[in-house]
Amino acid sequence: MNFELTEEHLMIQQAARDFAQNELLPGVIERDDKQIFPAEQVKKMGELGFMGMMVDPKYNGAGLDTISYVLAMEEISKVDASASVVMSVNNSLVCWGLEKFGTEEQKEKYLKPLASGEIIGAFCLSEPEAGSDATSQKTTAEDKGDHYLLNGNKNWITNGGSASVYLVMAQTDLEKGHRGINCLIVERGMEGFTVGKKEDKMGIRGSDTHSLMFQDVKVPKENRIGEDGFGFKFAMKVLSGGRIGIAAQALGIASGAFELATKYAKERKTFGKEIGKHQGVGFKLADMATEIDAARLMCLKAAWMKDNGMNFDKESAMAKLYASEIAMKTTVEAVQVHGGYGYVKEYHVERLMRDAKITQIYEGTSEIQKIVISRAVLAD
Ligand code: CAA
Repeated sequence: MNFELTEEHLMIQQAARDFAQNELLPGVIERDDKQIFPAEQVKKMGELGFMGMMVDPKYNGAGLDTISYVLAMEEISKVDASASVVMSVNNSLVCWGLEKFGTEEQKEKYLKPLASGEIIGAFCLSEPEAGSDATSQKTTAEDKGDHYLLNGNKNWITNGGSASVYLVMAQTDLEKGHRGINCLIVERGMEGFTVGKKEDKMGIRGSDTHSLMFQDVKVPKENRIGEDGFGFKFAMKVLSGGRIGIAAQALGIASGAFELATKYAKERKTFGKEIGKHQGVGFKLADMATEIDAARLMCLKAAWMKDNGMNFDKESAMAKLYASEIAMKTTVEAVQVHGGYGYVKEYHVERLMRDAKITQIYEGTSEIQKIVISRAVLAD
């Protein structure tokens, strides 16, 4: 077993680190405060290849592996989790799903501009009454021969206000239950499609989370992904890969907070020595370092399994569960290490603490990950 990263991996990690420090760090506090979407920064991420990292270059992607994606997600999330969730949804939920299951025409028309970052995408599964219980879709896609008639509402949609392309799950045949769900590619300008209110969130405030409304939207049949009734399986498969991205985001939030806490613990003196030399603080740093290392190994293992064509459903759920739990724990402790300074915006750790919370909720709550893991364990 070789734990060393390749030269290429190290280069990608460094490029993401430089980008985060030079382009994301300036202004991150203001964007969080005023809920400003990082549009310019996302455009640059596209130019650097971060928006379609795993997509084949023939569809304008960077042609990299999932390990590279985890490394880049960690670095970008250390600084700006709002920018990294835009990146994560575009890469794992939209581009990967289209490349793996889309038709050649869909890839030409939608994947190419999405992978280059020219436009961004959104993944629309959650509804007012279908969050964790995702099979209970109320949005309908009535089969009208050459098109579907889409009606319903979606909630909590990341990139909701800034996307141009939306992958929308909707029920075509109620009697078939989840086997009657389809995934349709919906364009921003389609008649009857309205972007609803922007959520005023606790964390990841730079990302734009919206509700969406569909009223008699005519979606051409050729915009369905996969066979009739494949939509729920599509969503599950895509989410399983997406959980590696969110695990890496949680890892980045934790390691960002850890780096800040360590730096502060070396500078700040109390009772005649640096606070890190007091066991009360030193032990906190030791726990953080250990847990972050474990989370990183779990993310990389799930990514490696995906890259090697193995079933990674359990491992991506485990990585997401663990990394999000330690992101929350680490950021709370990083605020504590900073004392009163940790409670003010200028020191960044309070934002990381607020951002960490969402990683325990989206792309399946911690409880959902435990359902996925326990089912896999019992099936072994
Ligand atoms: N791959 C392929 N198929 C899968 C699958 C997978 N990983 N997981 C489940 N399925 C299939 C099952 O085989 C089953 O199909 P068949 O009946 O044909 O065999 C079907 O899906 C239904 O599965 P279950 O019976 O297991 O369904 P369930 O209702 O018991 O629950 C669940 C499944 C895991 C709890 C699922 O509902 C779930 O993951 N819920 C959470 C949804 C979620 O993560 N939402 C996040 C929204 S997106 C987001 O947050 C993005 C963002 O903004 C950042």
